[in-house]
Amino acid sequence: MISRIHFLKGDITAMDVDAVVNAANTDLQLGSGVAGAIRAKGGPLIQEECDRLAPIALGEAAVTTGGRLKALYVIHAASMQLGGRTTAESLKLATHNTLLHAEEKGLKSIAFPAIGTGVAGFPMADCARIMLGETLEHLKVRTSLEKIYFVLYDDAALQAFEEAYRQLTARATPA
Ligand code: APR
Repeated sequence: MISRIHFLKGDITAMDVDAVVNAANTDLQLGSGVAGAIRAKGGPLIQEECDRLAPIALGEAAVTTGGRLKALYVIHAASMQLGGRTTAESLKLATHNTLLHAEEKGLKSIAFPAIGTGVAGFPMADCARIMLGETLEHLKVRTSLEKIYFVLYDDAALQAFEEAYRQLTARATPA
């Protein structure tokens, strides 16, 4: 099966996809990192919509306009409380709920950052394993998603995701 999962290094706000995923907190306050880039390039509409939707539960995801981004939507994946830290469970849930919201909207393409691995201090290798695990599970069921991009910010992150993908999809070597 041609993989619907793609990895690239770059700025997620430049992606021309149906939805860009924000590394969000439960207050939906767009701070620095991915959120700061989305706020800067997407314009004030996004935070205004977030203010109407906030707060959301830890591990939930909220959908807003993409504002001035190329993306139609931003899906805010809340893997942490403001000032808190991301955990394996909150990251798994936030990834799962983001994919569900994309499917509910019938989206065809989505771009994820390495959620939790910046301000929230979550280890990159664990993030890759958890996010890709959830994504592979989602792709086993019928979904509108045809292209799922992971947009990494440096070579180490890109290698971590490519390695995690290899491990998760390695065929059981014949005995
Ligand atoms: N494009 C792609 N990846 C990016 C970009 C970008 N423009 N900017 C940063 N990154 C990378 C970081 O290098 C890190 O690996 O995204 C990953 C996530 O980092 P953060 O954006 O800091 O997200 P997170 O660790 O989940 O912390 C979220 O930070 O900015 C606040 O409001 C935000 O409270 C929330 C918290």
